[in-house]
Amino acid sequence: MPLVNTKKMLEEAYSGGYAVGAFNISNMETVQGITTACSELRSPAILQVSPGAIRHSSPTYLTKLVEAAIFTYPDLPVVLHLDHGPDFDICKNCIDMGFTSVMIDGSNLSYEENVSLTKSVVDYAHPKGVTVEGELGRISGMEDKISTARNESFYTEPAQAEDFVKKTGVDSLAIAIGTSHGVYKFKGERKAQLRFDILEEIQKRLPKFPIVLHGSSSINPKFIKDINKFGGKIQYASGMPEEILNKLSKTAVCKINIDSDLRLAITAAIRKYLFLDHPCEFDPRGYFGIARKAVEGLVAHKIKEVLGSEDKI
Ligand code: G3H
Ligand code: 13P
Ligand code: ZN
Repeated sequence: MPLVNTKKMLEEAYSGGYAVGAFNISNMETVQGITTACSELRSPAILQVSPGAIRHSSPTYLTKLVEAAIFTYPDLPVVLHLDHGPDFDICKNCIDMGFTSVMIDGSNLSYEENVSLTKSVVDYAHPKGVTVEGELGRISGMEDKISTARNESFYTEPAQAEDFVKKTGVDSLAIAIGTSHGVYKFKGERKAQLRFDILEEIQKRLPKFPIVLHGSSSINPKFIKDINKFGGKIQYASGMPEEILNKLSKTAVCKINIDSDLRLAITAAIRKYLFLDHPCEFDPRGYFGIARKAVEGLVAHKIKEVLGSEDKI
């Protein structure tokens, strides 16, 4: 089937009490690993591309890789989504290139500017059948340069969220309730402290409206241990507990964004492969193949244990 937008996918997730995983892609192995797991478990797929991934691989390569994936799995509903689009032009370019969903991240602007920018993207996207995700509040992040420092983070204000959705016409909204991007979210003693009350209030004010949770990697300590055991030097870190994400997947949270966990799974697998099992290897297909398997395994685990999106297509 052709690429789909998020409209029906997230409506079904809302009414079915599960969430769809939005996994970041940047090369062939990530596209293949994610779509293979989704196809085998019959889970819808959102493949998202950050501006950094666009710089690394170019929109042409990424759209063609995703085209190859939908050709390979013709029954799999796939959304190609721009993650954290910073301005109108990037959103427009992605829409013109065939993306079926875009995020316009105006969260660093004033409220009025965010409304106006987001509405301009919605006005361009909707006549073309493309869905739009907005962001309100600020989701912190340390190494990703996409948002703000952790201690400057602002929670989403529910009344403003209601007004924002009405004024802009967005199809989904990323909210700030205490999650943060990257591997080093809750270092040391610091644990996830989420404002469930804000989510509940938004859910009341915006019935049936899909909410997006960014910064949803769980940072499995096993990956960090393996990376360090096989030559890496990564600091201990902790992320969003999977049980909490699983509970959230049954609420208005219909799209759960995961990138850092993929990065850690890939790095751990490649380090182990080269360092422990194949020190004489120099054929990249060996370790790229292992990376693809690691992505597939991680996505299958998330579908079954976190998202609840197995057997939903
Ligand atoms: O939320 C952002 C994603 O993890 C993308 O990160 O800008 O390093 O590609 P990136
Ligand atoms: P993580 O860094 O927690 O994987 O979050 C990814 C994300 O929110 C992409 O938009
Ligand atoms: Zn994000």
